[in-house]
Amino acid sequence: MISVIIPTYNEKDNLNELFSRIERSLNGLSHEIIIVDDKSPDETADKVKELSSSYPVKVIVRPKKLGLSSAVMDGLSIARGNVIAVMDADLQHPPEVLPTLYEKIEEGCDIVIASRYIKGGSVENWSLIRKLISKGSIVLAWILLPQVRWIKDPVSGYFMFRRQVIRDCRLNPRGFKILMEILVKGNYSRVCETPYTFGLRRRGISKLGASTIISYVLHILDLSSPIVRFALVGAFGTLVNLGVLWILRYALGIFHEIASALAIEISVLSNFSLNDLWTFRRKRKVSVIESIIRYHLANASGILVQYATSVALFKVIGLESLTSQFIGIIFGFLFNYALSRKIVWW
Ligand code: GDD
Ligand code: MN
Repeated sequence: MISVIIPTYNEKDNLNELFSRIERSLNGLSHEIIIVDDKSPDETADKVKELSSSYPVKVIVRPKKLGLSSAVMDGLSIARGNVIAVMDADLQHPPEVLPTLYEKIEEGCDIVIASRYIKGGSVENWSLIRKLISKGSIVLAWILLPQVRWIKDPVSGYFMFRRQVIRDCRLNPRGFKILMEILVKGNYSRVCETPYTFGLRRRGISKLGASTIISYVLHILDLSSPIVRFALVGAFGTLVNLGVLWILRYALGIFHEIASALAIEISVLSNFSLNDLWTFRRKRKVSVIESIIRYHLANASGILVQYATSVALFKVIGLESLTSQFIGIIFGFLFNYALSRKIVWW
């Protein structure tokens, strides 16, 4: 059985056409439609109930607008199918693609993505800026998440998967890219993509605005591996270090020897805080104070490794000094990461 999960918020006027096109597409295949509505002011849910005498549709009504991913997860909790489809209600995801998605599942794919970015797929009438945002968000995911690197449209909202893909995995209900969660955390061996045209919204308005860009970036960072987050914290720490140094030196006129030490210490503490709260999600086994001490010890040797590498490359091998320093920084970083994991967040 296929369970088609469709989150809705103010989509009343799309339901008639949506249901009739799904019915025509899935004709002959056992299926159910699950609408997860967030108490839409336009009374989408009432309309669904009205139509439930003609279509195999159930509706979950949630108390307020709680977001796309959590809607899909609530839909999953009542879905009876061993195959799950997720799509939008506004007909930008043409229901006629459903049979193709299912065919690929039958051919042995675990997850099938309706894709705008493989041969044959497209978007209708997008402005250059909208295209750039969409492509940019995909490239960001490719850079930070190795699991999606060979997938052309990992941010698609239209896809089908075998239910066992998400068995025992803890999906995050925050955000709106549930597919990304599944691709990073799910158990599967084959992902397939099939092309479609992302049409224009014909009725109602899009609910995903500018704030979703920030929430998307935070979501991707959350899904990334600790070494990526550790590197970002390190890069940010470099800015903190230089910023503090600049203020102490040039705004307050403090001696370099003191300013430099303070700047380093503040950046070490800020790195510690970010790594603790975010990179390693407070998975430490000792108190904060002891962790801070351990972090300093781990860091101290990282700096020494960096310095020693740099000096050795410069003096012994005779490499150019900036190159030596750069290689030293990379060595120091890797050493630091390994050691922090061993003695602070083991
Ligand atoms: N229950 C619920 N709660 N539904 C919601 C919410 C919410 O907070 N926000 C949006 N929806 C519903 C809408 O009613 C619609 O059916 C669907 O989720 C998608 O919302 P749109 O507002 O139409 O999003 P979009 O067209 O900008 O973006 C879609 O397409 C992109 C490209 O494939 C989404 O599917 C994106 O996830 C996708 O990347
Ligand atoms: Mn839409």
